[in-house]
Amino acid sequence: MDVVLLGGPGAGKGTQAQILQKHFGYRQISTGDLLREHRNGGTELGKAAEGFMKRGELVPDELIIKMVEGELRDDADVLFDGFPRTVAQAEALDALLDARGRGTPGAVYFQIDRALLEERLRGRWTNPRTGRVYHETFNAPKVAGIDDEDGGPLVQRDDDKPETIKRRLDVFEAQTMPLVEYYGRGKSHRLVAIDATLPVDEVTHQLIHALGLEHGH
Ligand code: AP5
Repeated sequence: MDVVLLGGPGAGKGTQAQILQKHFGYRQISTGDLLREHRNGGTELGKAAEGFMKRGELVPDELIIKMVEGELRDDADVLFDGFPRTVAQAEALDALLDARGRGTPGAVYFQIDRALLEERLRGRWTNPRTGRVYHETFNAPKVAGIDDEDGGPLVQRDDDKPETIKRRLDVFEAQTMPLVEYYGRGKSHRLVAIDATLPVDEVTHQLIHALGLEHGH
């Protein structure tokens, strides 16, 4: 089953998607990572998205939906990381999956308070090549600024500045929180909430249980 990871900026969606992708054969589709690739590659989409991302606002639905559609293939189950973020995107995803005979996705809501999200984003360091994520206090690399896995440099994201973090959290509360209701109410959808305040391995543990992965995937 395809799974939507639903949670505020900094809730740990990317961290967990990378772990599940590595150990359980899912494919991570992170709209944030895809947009950053477009922006760094200077594509038309990247240029159109840049201003929204810099301000911590959502990129228009039609651009995002088209980008995700281009990523869907009939292979591994997908972990949607950072998508959908609006009700319009969720409805479009249902239609895209339905047209491919994939059924409606499950959803996992990462529950966490705003103060902890801010702390997580302020201390985040990322490998821009692989998307692997660290935190200077909670999940530190062995050598500061260097990825444990490939030795590549770690950078701080330019939308992890205090004023942009505040905007992203406001946008999440106004535009993405309604998806908790969207995925919680329907007959065909399935929403599970997990405690995202716990350490990384404990969050992984909850996900394994919530997705029924105890005996593999
Ligand atoms: P995007 O890249 O998706 O950013 P986001 O949703 O704001 O999510 P983050 O990547 O910030 O957080 P995360 O939950 O993945 O946390 P992480 O694992 O890194 O989007 C960026 C921008 O792109 C948006 O603002 C928007 O403009 C645009 N965009 C993207 N998708 C869009 C869409 N669908 N529609 C419209 N616009 C879109 O963890 C955070 C930190 O915490 C790390 O340092 C990590 O090491 C640490 N950490 C993680 N888990 C734990 C734990 N359990 N305990 C302690 N520390 C932890």
